Amino acid sequence: MATIQDALHACPKPRFMLVSDLDHTMVQNEDLTHEKLQLFNRLWSINFSGDSLLVFSTGRSPNLFCQLWDEAPLLTPNVLICSVGSEIFYRTPDGSLLPDKAWEAYLDQGWDRAAVQALAAKYPQLAPQVASEQRRHKLSFHLQRSTAEADEAVLQGLREALAAAGLAAKVIYSGGVDVDVLAQGAGKGKALEFILKELQEAGAYPPDGVQVNGDSGNDIELFQVPGVRGCVVSNAHPELRNWATAALDPSKGGSATPATLHIAQQPCAGGIVEALLLFGSVQNPPQPQSLLRGFVTELGLLQSNALAGNLALLAEPGATWVTPAGRVLQVVQCMGEPADAAAAGLTWVDRICVRPLVQSKGGQTSIHQQGGAAAADAPAGTVNNSSLTSSISEGELLVVTYQLWSFKGQSRDSSRVRQCSVVVRASQPGAADGFKLLHLHEGVMAADVTATAAFAALAATST
Ligand code: GLC
Ligand code: MG
Repeated sequence: MATIQDALHACPKPRFMLVSDLDHTMVQNEDLTHEKLQLFNRLWSINFSGDSLLVFSTGRSPNLFCQLWDEAPLLTPNVLICSVGSEIFYRTPDGSLLPDKAWEAYLDQGWDRAAVQALAAKYPQLAPQVASEQRRHKLSFHLQRSTAEADEAVLQGLREALAAAGLAAKVIYSGGVDVDVLAQGAGKGKALEFILKELQEAGAYPPDGVQVNGDSGNDIELFQVPGVRGCVVSNAHPELRNWATAALDPSKGGSATPATLHIAQQPCAGGIVEALLLFGSVQNPPQPQSLLRGFVTELGLLQSNALAGNLALLAEPGATWVTPAGRVLQVVQCMGEPADAAAAGLTWVDRICVRPLVQSKGGQTSIHQQGGAAAADAPAGTVNNSSLTSSISEGELLVVTYQLWSFKGQSRDSSRVRQCSVVVRASQPGAADGFKLLHLHEGVMAADVTATAAFAALAATST
């Protein structure tokens, strides 16, 4: 049975946690360039991925989440909350996503799905959504809208009828059209509270806090979780914006302050980045680990676009490059080499994992895995040792692994994920240009072991 411990395997002592809704928050669905999401990805990969937890909390079922996974350059999350907080999945050490069965069992208590469904069926204004969105603890409808008052009356009538029938359920209205009827204990906020409690009990509550991010009604609960900071993206729906405006207004009984609740100037992931900076969650000056991840991100981008030849600028003389086809190249000889045209589209780096190459007593070289590393990506035999994370000494050799993803047309090309390992020398670990590439090994991941395969398995889960 999967628990928070599985997600903590990749990040045993998280410093910080980001929880974000996906549609119109993390993802600007109509922007096919995904510019803002790519900006977030870069910031997260460099400054947070080594020591922080990334949590996606979406209204989508696992099935519709998988569609979005294909359409947008999302990073691999540590925890995935689906179906408006009624399903929680952890990324386990082997890379798969497994449900929290304890959460499911908890939601079962007092939930009479059939009776709730029969009652909701009496409302002609509620048209059931597609079958994939009807889940064990969630029934979803589209509200056939009329006037604001009439819409409100339908929702109020449903809530009262449920209460009168003694049915424990929660009605959530989002995006001005979606109506979700959830098991009483479910919801994005309740799911987050459950996870935070588990972290607390594991002695792993993030000391630098939690930032939640959202744009619509089902996100309101996230902002009400005690102790979190919140970002309402600029494109938020009135239902959330009005809630946030009131929460910031003491004359309306609001107790939030600009230090805990931010209504962003920027839409979607642009707003998330804005709030991360405003709340001071990005470490400044950057840690050597972040500088190294920045170096590797740069390397990945050069590797995957028309500038491949410029890799020589980041390499030591004599550095070598093993291509997926097994060719061994001298990096310096690649200067001016033509691009890998197939990967010239949208590309991004995911799951960066840093480990020092250390000399053991017997003179043998061994690799120690660092905290924050995606364990599934670490070579067999590595040990998890989070105490090694903080410092990088001058002249130290490090192994960094990462995945290089790209789009083919307008969706991710899961058959061409490159799994890369690099050996880097830290000549001056406190400076952004203080790293040099010694060796780059690129492989193509088998399609069935990519995160896409793990998500596809998830999509097949039934109600
Ligand atoms: C997502 C889900 C849908 C839900 C909506 C709002 O779009 O697919 O079922 O009603 O989020 O929570
Ligand atoms: Mg949304």
